[in-house]
Amino acid sequence: MACFLPLTVTAIRRETRDAVVLTLTPRPKDMAAFAFVQGQYLTFRRDFDGTELRRSYSICAGLDDGCLQVAVKRVEGGAFSSWVNTDLAPGDILEAMPPAGRFFAPVEGARHYLAFAAGSGITPILSIIRTALAREPDARVTLVYANRGAASIMFREDLEDLKNLHLGRLSVIHVLEQEGQEIELFTGRLEADRLARLFRLWIDPAGADMAFICGPEPMMLAVAASLRDHGMADDRIRFELFSAGQQGRAATPPRPVAAPTDQGVEAAVTLDGTTRRIAVAPGQTLLEAALAAQMDAPWSCRAGVCSTCRCKVTEGAVEMAVNHALEDDEVRAGYVLSCQAVPLTAAVTMTYDA
Ligand code: FES
Repeated sequence: MACFLPLTVTAIRRETRDAVVLTLTPRPKDMAAFAFVQGQYLTFRRDFDGTELRRSYSICAGLDDGCLQVAVKRVEGGAFSSWVNTDLAPGDILEAMPPAGRFFAPVEGARHYLAFAAGSGITPILSIIRTALAREPDARVTLVYANRGAASIMFREDLEDLKNLHLGRLSVIHVLEQEGQEIELFTGRLEADRLARLFRLWIDPAGADMAFICGPEPMMLAVAASLRDHGMADDRIRFELFSAGQQGRAATPPRPVAAPTDQGVEAAVTLDGTTRRIAVAPGQTLLEAALAAQMDAPWSCRAGVCSTCRCKVTEGAVEMAVNHALEDDEVRAGYVLSCQAVPLTAAVTMTYDA
């Protein structure tokens, strides 16, 4: 299930002072495994001094670009992102799981897309924009892209190229936090007041078909709330968080506690068609229990953000500590993030195969 496959780094392009774009090539026999949908991500793993780190990075290429590319921005103190930015070289091999994630909408018919990105949140948004412009001849995209300053804008040239290639179909509004611009509205943070003015004066959310948002949670929540206030229905707004440690969206609905769990729980876990009965210690998550039982369960962030550890609970009840990744309807259907799920009942049946 947690199958990692080798990818050769065939090119590294420095995008900004602290971000690079990697072009990755699968082995011929793995090509199908790395076919992706716009907006998906790859999970990488690497051993650092005996500790395995896993990190997920969004694909920035469009479906018709003929390549697999991710962007990696250096995070302060981040071992993996620092290593990629300083030590990785063309010809090196990275290990990655096949693409995952559901941050996309089906490509169909003429649409006006709105996109909101902050910093490296542009990565999956760029994949979506490239795909929409290439595959939907009548689609238009309005991108609002927030950054600290001009120097930290990723994919600035790519966006200009896309504008020129698809004349009149892509408009980009750069909002810079720390640099004055000709239009005062475009200087500052993407906060409620600025968004309200933006939607009153420049963009009509009610007339758009779909909005994609990727960035830190405060920005994401502010944009979504303002979109709703200005007439966009909830089911037309898609999110992708890339930072952890804050409140999630759908909490697990309250379910009756059938038995105390201080004695531990037995879980029946199905993975790759095989079901095993494992013990879950008090306070242990389903993922921790599965890994402790030597099951090759999938995981990456362990923070409730990436959804790599998604599974379905078919019997019993669990509770998630945080959920930044699952939509409300998935939670209602019984899906949980196993890295965040603690049993509430004496027995739980769950599957990674659903
Ligand atoms: Fe990322 Fe569970 S491992 S949400």
